[in-house]
Amino acid sequence: MHRVADLVADYLEGVGERPVLPAVKPGEVRSVLPAAAPEQPEPLDTILDDYLRVIEPNLTHWNHPGFLAYFAITGSGPGILGETLAAGLNVNAMLWRTSPAGTELEERVCAWLARMMDLPADFHGHINDTASSSSLVALATARHRLPGLDVRVRGLSGRPEVPPLTLYASDQAHSSIDKSAIVLGLGQENVRRIESDGDFRMSVPALAAAVARDRAEGRLPMAVVATVGTTSTTSVDPVPEIADLCAREGLWLHVDAAYAGSAAICPEYRALMPGIERADSLVVNPHKWLFTPVDCSLLYVRDPALLKAAFSLVPEYLRTAEDSEVTNLMDYGFQLGRRFRSLKLWMVIRAFGVEGLRERIREHCALARDLAGWIAADPRFELAAPVPFSTVCFRARLEEDPDRFNERLLARVNAAGPVFLSHTVLKGRYTLRVAIGNLRTEREHIQRLWELVGRAYDELRGE
Ligand SMILES: Cc1ncc(COP(=O)(O)O)c(C=O)c1O
Repeated sequence: MHRVADLVADYLEGVGERPVLPAVKPGEVRSVLPAAAPEQPEPLDTILDDYLRVIEPNLTHWNHPGFLAYFAITGSGPGILGETLAAGLNVNAMLWRTSPAGTELEERVCAWLARMMDLPADFHGHINDTASSSSLVALATARHRLPGLDVRVRGLSGRPEVPPLTLYASDQAHSSIDKSAIVLGLGQENVRRIESDGDFRMSVPALAAAVARDRAEGRLPMAVVATVGTTSTTSVDPVPEIADLCAREGLWLHVDAAYAGSAAICPEYRALMPGIERADSLVVNPHKWLFTPVDCSLLYVRDPALLKAAFSLVPEYLRTAEDSEVTNLMDYGFQLGRRFRSLKLWMVIRAFGVEGLRERIREHCALARDLAGWIAADPRFELAAPVPFSTVCFRARLEEDPDRFNERLLARVNAAGPVFLSHTVLKGRYTLRVAIGNLRTEREHIQRLWELVGRAYDELRGE
């Protein structure tokens, strides 16, 4: 344990000196690993030597200050300690009986975060691995609520009387929503991707028209997913208008705030998300922007009894004497066994304090605003979307073949080593993304990024 603690400390101290991306080709790591497991035990020191030689150098370094791709994340010190303690305990928090403190800490920490995000006091939270699972559980509950279908017992197949169930999300919503439709038996064909406006926010008139069309054609609208902080640009769908429509139409409202929900702990960013308190379900991922190690995703629901009705199934061997008095977390989703994730989140919230967490989020947003200002002031580049939080989308301005140029620009910037950016396509145009979310990212790293981008642009133009 002491050697591992030193390995982690050394890694974190030196991670910024490495290139973010390893110089490794597909298959190279596999080729140096033995094809079969060892028959005889090996000393842990030998295994850790191999970890240092083969594993650590061949990873993409998410804890690097120059990691600015996808949504940048941080395994913060308190989070790493919480994760370590949870591994040592190895409790399975499926029932209150199997983990009394694990169950009650999870309830308490979820209530803390709800209060921090200014969500209603009666929102019920529990922790899943990822937003993909949280959204799946939420949408399964929406399906369970549909009257007269009893999908839980009767399923969907072989029932010609059941109309196609439809789901609505913007053309900017995350692919996990389509995956939910795949798993829930709705089918990708029945996910309506509603067009977004010039600022990448779902068009509510287009949503209303899609729902009306589906009803007229005999389909059964089920739920709308509003995204607060879309994956490409972090745009915020107009939740109040979507909530009005859901109320009028009797549709479930699921809010995907996986990324930007963390910013709701700052009143000024919470103000950018009016209406989230009207959700039937809401997902937020502390493992994205609340400095908690992967994985940790909170699902809040307005009506936990409905969630339980959708999922609770208690075989005899899982009955306990306290069932009527306690929460058994296995009742709130499809998984039985569950990790003790609340421990790391509890440690993160306490060690930073809510004010400390707010400061870090504000700092990330301020860095993003600085970068956006530099881009806007440089005639070589343009901003590709508004910057409400800490993610900046931009591209080089060019008359000729801009997509190809921007693709090469990204490759060149990433090949330099100190930073790693990712890309997206916005309204058909190739776009570079800078997502600031790592605690180690400071102004100097963003300045360095900007220098690298400018230099790569000039070199490519020269060529
Ligand atoms: C808006 C949004 N929702 C959901 C997800 C999926 O998150 P997870 O990896 O926790 O399933 C992402 C991932 O980036 C996201 O950006």
